[in-house]
Amino acid sequence: MTAPIAHFNGELLPLDQIHISPLDRGFIFGDGVYEVIPAYGGRLLRAREHFRRLQRSMDEIGLANPHSVDEWIAHVNRLLAHHPGNRSVYIQVTRGAPPNRDHVIPKGLVPTVFMMASPLSTPSPEMVERGVACVSAKDFRWEKCHIKSTSLLGNVLARQVSAEAGATETILFRDGFLTEAAASNVFIVKGGVVAAAPRDNHILLGITYELLEELAGQGKIRYEVRPVAEAEVRSADEIWLTSSTKEVLAVTTLDGKPVGSGSPGPVFRRMHALFQDYKAKLASAAAVA
Ligand code: PDD
Repeated sequence: MTAPIAHFNGELLPLDQIHISPLDRGFIFGDGVYEVIPAYGGRLLRAREHFRRLQRSMDEIGLANPHSVDEWIAHVNRLLAHHPGNRSVYIQVTRGAPPNRDHVIPKGLVPTVFMMASPLSTPSPEMVERGVACVSAKDFRWEKCHIKSTSLLGNVLARQVSAEAGATETILFRDGFLTEAAASNVFIVKGGVVAAAPRDNHILLGITYELLEELAGQGKIRYEVRPVAEAEVRSADEIWLTSSTKEVLAVTTLDGKPVGSGSPGPVFRRMHALFQDYKAKLASAAAVA
C-alpha cells in the first residue's frame, strides 16, 4: 500500500518520505503546538477559529507563525484534495531543529510544519444512542492547559487511566472543580441548565466548546459558564464530552455509577440535533460552493 500524502514544510509528500531531525525541539522537548480540524466531505469545520487558536498557542510560546490564516487554509485544502471524505486534519508546528540540545530557545530557528489527514472517526450511532463510560482522576497537568501544546504527557497519562478501565475518557478535577477531560471539554446539565467550566488556563478552550455555546444560544438552551464543583458533576442530570472528533457525546456512567437516568438525556438530544444540523448546513454549503 502506498503511504498517504502528508504536508511537510510546504511540500506534499508520501508520509513515509518525511524525515524529521532527532534534534527537532518538538522531538527533544515537546516544544511545539498543534491543531486538529475536522473536515466533512472536504469542508473544514471552523477552520478560521482553529487557526486563530493556533496563533494564540504560538503567541503563548513565543513562536513566529510561518503562515497567515489564508495560507494555512490553502495548504490544508491542497492536502485535503488527496483525502476525500470525512477527515481529521492534524497540524503541528514545532520550534525547529537547532544544531544541539539546549533548553534555552535559540534565535532564528525555522519552525517545522507537519500536517496529515486521517479518517475522521466520529462516534458510532450506538455510542450516541447509549452514551459512553468515563472515569475521573485528579488533574495533575501543568498550569498552561490553554496552550494546545504537543507536550501531552499529562494528557496521555490521564487518558490511559480511562483506557485501562475500558472507558472513553478521563474527567479531570483540580482542587475540587471540573476542568476538562484528557482530550475533550466537559459540560454538565442540572435542572435543564448547561454549565461549562470557565475559559481559563486550566482548560483548552475547544472550538467545539465555543460552537456549543453558540448552538445553545440559537436553540434557547439555558447555558452558563462558571466554576463547576466536583460534587455537581457527580450529581448532574447529564454530562457531555465535546471535541473535534467526538462532536458532542453523552457520558452515561462516571466511575461506574449512572449519570442521571443512565441514558443520554433530553438536553443532550437537543444539542446533538443542533450539532448535526450545523454539520448538514456545512455540507450543503460545500455542495453549492
Ligand atoms: N483534542 N481539551 C483537550 C485537552 C483537548 O485535547 C481537546 C481536543 C479539547 C477539545 O477541543 P476541540 O473542540 O477544539 O477539538 C479540549 C484533540 C481533538 C486532540 O488532541 O486530538
